[in-house]
Amino acid sequence: MSKTYTLAELAALAGVQPEKVLGWEDQGFLGDVRHAVIPTRKGDPQNGDGARTPIYGFEQAERCVELGGRGIPRRICVVNQKGGVGKTTTTFTLAAALAELGRRVLVVDLDAQANLTTSFGFDPDELELTSADLLTNENIQPEDVILETAIEGIHAIPGDITLAGVETRIQDTLMRERILFTKLEPLFDRYHTILFDCPPNLSRITLNALVASREVIVPVETQSYSIKAIADLTNTFALLKAKMGHELMVWILPTKVDRRMKLAGDILEALDEGFRGQILDPIHIDSNLVRAPLLCEPVTRAFPTSRSSQEYGRLARFLVLPDAERAKWMDLPLRTRRKVIQRAEEGAKDLGLNEGKKKRVTA
Ligand SMILES: Nc1ncnc2c1ncn2[C@@H]1O[C@H](COP(=O)(O)OP(=O)(O)OP(=O)(O)O)[C@@H](O)[C@H]1O
Ligand SMILES: [Mg+2]
Repeated sequence: MSKTYTLAELAALAGVQPEKVLGWEDQGFLGDVRHAVIPTRKGDPQNGDGARTPIYGFEQAERCVELGGRGIPRRICVVNQKGGVGKTTTTFTLAAALAELGRRVLVVDLDAQANLTTSFGFDPDELELTSADLLTNENIQPEDVILETAIEGIHAIPGDITLAGVETRIQDTLMRERILFTKLEPLFDRYHTILFDCPPNLSRITLNALVASREVIVPVETQSYSIKAIADLTNTFALLKAKMGHELMVWILPTKVDRRMKLAGDILEALDEGFRGQILDPIHIDSNLVRAPLLCEPVTRAFPTSRSSQEYGRLARFLVLPDAERAKWMDLPLRTRRKVIQRAEEGAKDLGLNEGKKKRVTA
């Protein structure tokens, strides 16, 4: 089912007052707005057709994001050469959370395991073309490969097992680290966010994703010491800067945090100190994250009230903030920052962000 939005939610997405949104609607900027007729109560003296209430959908949310100047394009690579740390889960869930915020999202599956492709309900063995063809065949353009997903606002470039052979096939290609960048460049302004799900290695495919991105999210599992993997990654980022002048904004995302384990707390604290200014609010361990993709649904849809759904929702809201707003918080320790952000979110609620969920419509 498509998500619907209240007037207050649209205003919050655009960062404006609800009156402004109504003004846009009057001027026709929001396209065709559906209206639901809410029957009048029995005995109501006003015996008309009932009250008409607008039902805003993704189209209106997307337009409000644009009209409010909040549609800053972002390209984010989700990377860690360590396996099973939550790269695919993060790409899938974050994409859904961003689409809920009215963002047009393109996800690119670059892993031969094709878990992201499967999560969206596609069978990789049935696909005619995948990201492997985009990378290896110069006649294939993104438009030939992009699929519309069941989630409004999300398009996908799927992956399949043939990605395993790409490394050797692009070996002799000129500028082989820039293939993805060159192919996708014409689309950079068409999506608010492009998310790349990388394989668990630092292959040329991963380098292609890094070169095509401006930002990197490194999921770090807090159930084991993964600091060594981060150090190797940091060297790769430094090499990209030195050799290609390509600078990346690096975010560290602690995943699978289990507060019952002392080790998780210790690792979290070490990451917080070591990566101050880059660390994102952690994602806790939550079995709903394992169950949701089995239903071909992101957790934000399958289990919207679950802890991980809330956490990925918060992550999406954080990432779409203009840089200057984010910078105010980034240098604070995680613990303090959470409190400050919570207060700011309560401020947003005062703007009416969650009003629609609480208010009962009376005729
Ligand atoms: N926060 C979490 N809580 C519980 N389980 C999680 C969490 N995040 C991910 N998982 C589970 O951990 C497993 C690995 O996650 P995922 O596939 O996202 O990792 P990955 O880094 O993409 O792995 P790979 O390197 O093999 O591609 C999956 O079964 C996933 O459902
Ligand atoms: Mg994966």
